[in-house]
Amino acid sequence: MAPSRTAPDWKRWLGRWDEQQESFNPDRERRFGTMLDLLEAGLGRRFTVLDLGSGPGSLSQRILHRFPAARAVAVDYDPVVRRIGEGALGTLGGRLTWVDAKLGQPGWSRSLPRPRFDAAVSTTALHWLTPADLARLYGDLGRILRPGGMFLNGDYLPSGRREPHLDRLERSVVKIRFPRKRAGAEWGAWARWWDDARRVPALRAEFREHDRRSASHPKRTDLTLDYHVRRLRAAGFRTVAVVWQDLANRVLYARR
Ligand SMILES: C[S@@+](CC[C@H](N)C(=O)[O-])C[C@H]1O[C@@H](n2cnc3c(N)ncnc32)[C@H](O)[C@@H]1O
Repeated sequence: MAPSRTAPDWKRWLGRWDEQQESFNPDRERRFGTMLDLLEAGLGRRFTVLDLGSGPGSLSQRILHRFPAARAVAVDYDPVVRRIGEGALGTLGGRLTWVDAKLGQPGWSRSLPRPRFDAAVSTTALHWLTPADLARLYGDLGRILRPGGMFLNGDYLPSGRREPHLDRLERSVVKIRFPRKRAGAEWGAWARWWDDARRVPALRAEFREHDRRSASHPKRTDLTLDYHVRRLRAAGFRTVAVVWQDLANRVLYARR
């Protein structure tokens, strides 16, 4: 894509984000849909939700579209995706707030615009957190969510070493579904999106900061399902259960 001097079409960038995410997670919309159904069943249609690792706001956008009386706070550490999200969605009539914070770092929740939330959601994001940061994030969520509040995490949550046979099967099925050649194509969509975005002049400052922050960003950790469940229970969540899954692609539900 050639550099352009006109204002970027941020909505198109958000649309392309959704396409590249879907290319390696074909069930993405169904997973979003299940999460929205659970929010409505558990909390009704008027609630305030935290979107953790929101990227450019795909999940917040879907929540606020379906629930016109809801509010969302989208938290992400990457200035590039936040800029695109803010450009594409703005504040959706004052109902969407964007926050720059690094989840799990001590004091991250001080950047939030309010102390309490009815719900927290996250998709394809928390696999980046270190064990210590995830434990701290869940400890904080135990305080931030009101009693009866709900947390939903849609992510790759592998069975891991406690269930080695199942873990091997999960990985084998991924290889069958995404053979090497095709897998390259799926990740290619992701890499192309980033390469193209890097050429947008309006994102130059954001990329400088993105690169600075990436230098100290951990590699993906893919913590196991079992680790997430244990840390949520330790943080005071009473019910913790997988409510949707396709192998290790799961939605984990937790209730305060
Ligand atoms: C694959 S994207 C998913 C974005 C969005 N939730 C979606 O489903 O389209 C993962 C996002 O998590 C963010 N992220 C990863 N670790 C983070 C952290 N510690 N604090 C804040 N954001 C983080 C990244 O910047 C990125 O935008």
